[in-house]
Amino acid sequence: MKRIKALHFTRNVHGSFRTQLSDLYRSVFALPPWNEIFSDVEMESVIGTWESAPNESDIHLLTHEEDDKVIGFGVGTRLDDYHDSKEVLIHIQGDPKIIYWITELGVDPNYQTYGLGRLLLRTLVDRSTERGFNTIATRTRPDSKAFTLFQKMGFVEVGRDEFTTGGVSSMRAILMKTL
Ligand SMILES: CC(C)(COP(=O)(O)OP(=O)(O)OC[C@H]1O[C@@H](n2cnc3c(N)ncnc32)[C@H](O)[C@@H]1OP(=O)(O)O)[C@@H](O)C(=O)NCCC(=O)NCCS
Repeated sequence: MKRIKALHFTRNVHGSFRTQLSDLYRSVFALPPWNEIFSDVEMESVIGTWESAPNESDIHLLTHEEDDKVIGFGVGTRLDDYHDSKEVLIHIQGDPKIIYWITELGVDPNYQTYGLGRLLLRTLVDRSTERGFNTIATRTRPDSKAFTLFQKMGFVEVGRDEFTTGGVSSMRAILMKTL
């Protein structure tokens, strides 16, 4: 496998990183079990939502060494900045200002199974712990590899709900971990 350069931490995604992130996001979620499709406009809106969160989202990009190719992403925010926080708070009790919400996690299919998903998730957990959040939570498909990864990292399922994105409605598990 090519060498991984580093994790880039950013609030806004500029230049070629933006195009690469859009392309990667679309290719990751176009695959089963997700089968989601995002137009250019929808994709811009997804990234724009992360960038415009009142308390600023954290956007972690993983690149490889030779050419700064973006091969993974992990995005998180305060739960009260997440657009669907009301639905989430049905399942997780607590102050949404100190609950950290993992919005997105994805690794280029060519680079999956090498521990990079775990690295990105570890980064989100560590950063949220350092900043005083007492809970970290997310929502994912119960039939996804991500679900297994979250469970292995100590997240427990606290509920399920129907969620629609990329033109697909599916049952999602809400998972949380006390920090
Ligand atoms: C979930 C995802 C980020 C994992 O990335 P990855 O780099 O392959 O993950 P890792 O190599 O760090 O593996 C971590 C764990 O994920 C699970 N996993 C990874 N690949 C798997 C596979 N092919 N089958 C089953 N589980 C798998 C395993 O539990 C694995 O733990 P292990 O190493 O102890 O076996 C990646 O599969 C992905 O991008 N999926 C599509 C997008 C997605 O589902 N995002 C989450 C939306 S909330």
